[in-house]
Amino acid sequence: MKTALITGGTKGIGSAIAERLLNENWNIILTYFSDDDAASRIQEYFVSSYPKSRIILLKVDCGDLNELDLIDDYLVKNNIYLDALLFNAGATDRTVFGEINFENWQRVFDVNVNFPMFLLQKTSPRLNNGATVVFTGSLMGIHPHSVSLSYGVTKAAVHALVKNLVKVFASQKVRINAVAPGFVNTEWQQLKPHEQKENINKKIALGRFCEPSELTDAYLFLINNKYVNGEVLTIDGGYSMF
Ligand SMILES: NC(=O)c1ccc[n+]([C@@H]2O[C@H](COP(=O)([O-])OP(=O)(O)OC[C@H]3O[C@@H](n4cnc5c(N)ncnc54)[C@H](OP(=O)(O)O)[C@@H]3O)[C@@H](O)[C@H]2O)c1
Repeated sequence: MKTALITGGTKGIGSAIAERLLNENWNIILTYFSDDDAASRIQEYFVSSYPKSRIILLKVDCGDLNELDLIDDYLVKNNIYLDALLFNAGATDRTVFGEINFENWQRVFDVNVNFPMFLLQKTSPRLNNGATVVFTGSLMGIHPHSVSLSYGVTKAAVHALVKNLVKVFASQKVRINAVAPGFVNTEWQQLKPHEQKENINKKIALGRFCEPSELTDAYLFLINNKYVNGEVLTIDGGYSMF
């Protein structure tokens, strides 16, 4: 059986990808940050629904580079090799420009760019030949909006990282791609007031947010297709064209 590690895998987009892979008989390792209850609930659900798969939870703060070893040590101790590595955990900071401080700016860079970069460096010996890496980028890395400067900049960096890593991993036959979602109905978006969501809907050709399950075909395609490499697949309901 193949094994995937998904950062931020207990909710939203990450848990939808996890379920899709479980349906395809993968073993999965899910990381999460702080919500132990939600993590236990989703693990229990996955264990009872997909008894043939191994489902492992790791509590790791992807904003703290000291915690890189929690993941790497687990893989090494348990002699696990990965067929897919999905960098999905993300952070944002909506502070207005004049009040952004270095600490908050740095945290968004650590979660979105630095942790994935250095986890990939550490775990690269544990990627099977032909394995695949998929980042969750964002439409906001392509079409900036002013609400979170560090978010847009880091997601653009994620897209650039994907393209720059292709050559680095060519000899290992590891493919690197990203999905850049538009607006997705997850906890991440829950705090947005109804009126703001309605305004966003007007800018989307399909007139609505994406459901996490509607993204999973894209991740599966990037994982399974053996030739797609260095791509950032935008899934935004036509926002970019509207
Ligand atoms: N939702 C959107 O509209 C949208 C659009 C474009 C891109 N994205 C990107 O999609 C990714 C997933 O977002 P989502 O909407 O699915 O979010 P979500 O529903 O809020 O889920 C976030 C997941 O990531 C974990 N997580 C958060 N911060 C973490 C940290 N510092 N270290 C480790 N794990 C952490 C959470 O764990 P806990 O529950 O324990 O905190 C949870 O499992 C992010 O990279 C985001 O930028 C989202």
